[in-house]
This record gives sequence, C-alpha cells and structure tokens, in this order.
Amino acid sequence: MPATISDVPTPSFLVDFDKVKKNAQKMIDTCERLGVQLRPHMKTHKTVELGTLMTNGTKRTIEVSTLEEAEFYARNGFDDILYAHPLIAARIERCKSLAYKLKAFHVMIESFHGLIALLSCPLKNGKKWSIYLEIDDGSGRSGVPWESDDVIKLAKEASESPYIDFQGLYLFNGRTYEAKGTRGIENANKEGTDLLQTLHKRFTDNNIDCRTLAIGNTPSCSRPHESMNVLTEFHPGNYIFYDMQQATIGSCSSDDIACRLTTRIIGHKPSHNIFLIDCGFLALSYDGMAEHPDEFSTFLDHPDLKVIGFSQEIGKVTTKSGDKLNYDKYPIGSQLFIFPWHSCATACQHTVFYVHSGNNITDMWTPAKGW
Ligand SMILES: Cc1ncc(COP(=O)(O)O)c(C=O)c1O
Repeated sequence: MPATISDVPTPSFLVDFDKVKKNAQKMIDTCERLGVQLRPHMKTHKTVELGTLMTNGTKRTIEVSTLEEAEFYARNGFDDILYAHPLIAARIERCKSLAYKLKAFHVMIESFHGLIALLSCPLKNGKKWSIYLEIDDGSGRSGVPWESDDVIKLAKEASESPYIDFQGLYLFNGRTYEAKGTRGIENANKEGTDLLQTLHKRFTDNNIDCRTLAIGNTPSCSRPHESMNVLTEFHPGNYIFYDMQQATIGSCSSDDIACRLTTRIIGHKPSHNIFLIDCGFLALSYDGMAEHPDEFSTFLDHPDLKVIGFSQEIGKVTTKSGDKLNYDKYPIGSQLFIFPWHSCATACQHTVFYVHSGNNITDMWTPAKGW
C-alpha cells in the first residue's frame, strides 16, 4: 500500500476517510431527527466499507441500481436491499434468487410490464415479491406519471395480489437538482412531499394500503424541509462523497467534498497554451463537461485551471482566464488534484479507491463492477 497520497499511482481516486465519516453521520442524524428510515444508495461507491459506514454498521436497509450490486452486497452480509431500477422480465430470474436468499429483497416497478413479469413468476414457500412503485413528478425521469390513472391501477392490482407485498411509493424529486441554495432545495422538497401526500390521499380514497412514502436524492435529504417528517424513507447516495455539482446546487459546502482524483502532468504544449495530464475521460468521466465547462474539473489550489479536452488516457489543461500558462509552475511529473463534477460517475471508473486520513494512505477499497 502506498504510504502517502504523493505515492499513489496516477490517475487514482482518493477518498478522505474523515470526511466520508462526517457525511455519513450527518445523514444518519438528519434521519433520526426527522424520524425517517435512511435507505442509502450504494451506486455512488459500490463498496462494502462505505455501505457499512452509511448504515451505521447494521448492513441493513440499502438501495442499489444494478443486480450486480445487489448480489455483491448480499454476498457480503447485507440484507433488506431495494433494487431501485425499472424492472423488466429479463431480470426476474436473478431477482428471484435474491428474494430467496435475503430476508428482505425489494424491487421497483414503474410499468405494467414490471408488474406482469412479477405476477407471472410468483415466489414459493410463503414468500411474496416486495415492491415499491416509482412515480414521476413530471420531470420525465423513470416512474409512472403521478397524476395518471395508471398509478392507481398499478397500485391496486399490486396490493390486491396474493403474490405481492406492496410497500408504497418512491419519488426521486428531480426538482431539487434544478434548485439553488438551501431555501430553493427546501421549497422543492416541500413540493415533493405535498405531491406524495396528495397521492397518499388518493390511495386511501381507493382503499389501497400504502405504508411507505420514500423520497430522494442527495439535495433533498441534505437540505430537508421540516414537513418531510411525514415521510417514511430517505434514499440519498451521492452525499457520502458529494462533488462540485452538489456544492454548486447548495447541498453541501466545497469543504464537505470527500473525494478527489489525482493526476500527473505528462507534457507541455506552449504552442496551444495547454499542458497534458495522465487523466483521460476514462479516469474522470465526461459527465458535466458540456454543460459546466468551468466547474467540471476544479483543481485544488489552482482555481484558474480547467480541462478543455480528453482522449481516453490524456487530458488537456489550460487557464479559465485565457492567461498564458506559467510552465515553471507546472513541471512535467508534478501531481495535481481534481474535484469531480459528478463523483458517482468518476468513482465508477476506478477499480480501487485509495483511502486517506490527512496525507497518509490508510486503506484500499475495491468496488463492485459490472451489471
Ligand atoms: C432510484 C434512485 N434513488 C436514489 C438515488 C440517489 O440520488 P443521489 O445520487 O442524488 O444521491 C438515485 C440516483 O440516481 C436513484 O436513481
């Protein structure tokens, strides 16, 4: 294991242990204060170590986005896992194995296709399919349109089936990603909560039992509105690392960002006023580059630098201001650190995470890979 962050091979993904610990605890405290169950999403990191930290050591009540993650966490002693991805018939067999293996395995549906797939493949030995129904608030993400008749029809058919245990509703609440600052996010949260309550009332009017009202993403659960104490579950994931996107929205401060990418300068090109780094699109990902060219790659201690182009293993860096680069400040071989725009996308490019406390490397973690 490398001794310090200066010794890690580049490009590498670094995790600040003191900060992830703080971010995990803060979310646990928020959920306790509001009286909601935290069901943290594992897609951001896909590691046993952070899953354990985010569940306060219980290894219970998590959410995943792929079956590979579900199987990985099940193998590693986790239980009460929600596979939160629109369900299709082609995935039923793997879901079935998980349903038999775990005490609690839940799937998410957002269409009759998903429901019919479950109904045509009932579980045996007294087990039932446990389902969440995802709803769309109009943002056009996955989910059944919340005002549609299909929401009621799907929930009614599911809750009346002897093969299904209907848990309730999940709303991503994408409008918090469009919000700005604490107040903006809180307002978006109030709207999402009101929407879930309106739907809950429609369910009651239609004699549909709905035990779970789940919301979220990272902005929602980092800046909750007090009215959210009527909900039952929070589903954030990115908060464990945060990133430039969350700092820009106002979900966190830039000091809360618990991960960064390290890279080394590999060439100078004064003719183009750029230098080259050993971080191509595979190490950082393109996510956010087109929409946020200035914030996309934020260099620690070098606020005027930005990545302006990539090939697979090489990045091109210049100044935001257009000033000439002072190459004496950036010798070939020197190390730089980049805060990613979207930490989930960047983390998923890496097969190992270097964990540090201060400058010392304290551990190396291996995330799950594949689908
Ligand atoms: C179904 C679902 N739940 C929760 C989350 C977590 O959201 P965030 O990445 O903002 O923490 C995601 C993220 O894409 C998701 O797809």
